[in-house]
Amino acid sequence: MEKKKIRVLFVCLGNICRSPMAEMTFNQLAQQEGLDNCIEADSAATSTEELGNPMYPPARAELARHHVPCLPHRARAMIKADYQDYDLLIGMEDSNISNMLRIAGGDPQKKIHKLMDYTKQGGNVQDPWYTSDFGTAYQHILAGCKGLIEVLKQNSH
Ligand code: 4NP
Repeated sequence: MEKKKIRVLFVCLGNICRSPMAEMTFNQLAQQEGLDNCIEADSAATSTEELGNPMYPPARAELARHHVPCLPHRARAMIKADYQDYDLLIGMEDSNISNMLRIAGGDPQKKIHKLMDYTKQGGNVQDPWYTSDFGTAYQHILAGCKGLIEVLKQNSH
C-alpha cells in the first residue's frame, strides 16, 4: 500500500510573498533530497487582501535568482478544514501564528509552528511586502525549510 504523504501548509499574511516562496523552496529541497514522493507543500493566507492574486513579482524574481522553480500560484485563504487536511501548518511570524490559531480554533495536535523555529537563529521571517528586503526573506525561508526537512527526514526513519 502506498504510504500517505506528509502534507505541509506554509502560511503568511497575504500568500503572495513569503508562504509561496517557502512552498516552492521547500518543494525543490524535497525533490533534491528524493523526498518528493513522501512530502508535499502548499501555502495559504491568513488575510483575504490578495485572494486569487499571483505571487508578487519581486518575490518571484528572488526565487528565479536562486533557480527555484516558480509554479503557477493563486493566493488562497487558510480555512479551518486545513487543520485536519495538513500534518504541519507553518507560519512566518508571530502574528501569523495567532491568526492561524484563531482560524483553526486551537492546536490540539501541536501541528502549528513557526518556520524560523527550525533554525538556530529563531525569530520571524520579516514581511518583504513592507521591508522590500526579498533577499533576507529568502535566506530566512531557505534556512527554515532546510531545518524542517532535517526534522522530517529524522522522523521518517
Ligand atoms: P506576505 O506579504 O504575507 O508575505 O504574502 C504580504 C502581501 C500583501 C499584503 C500583506 C502582506 N497585503 O496586505 O496586501
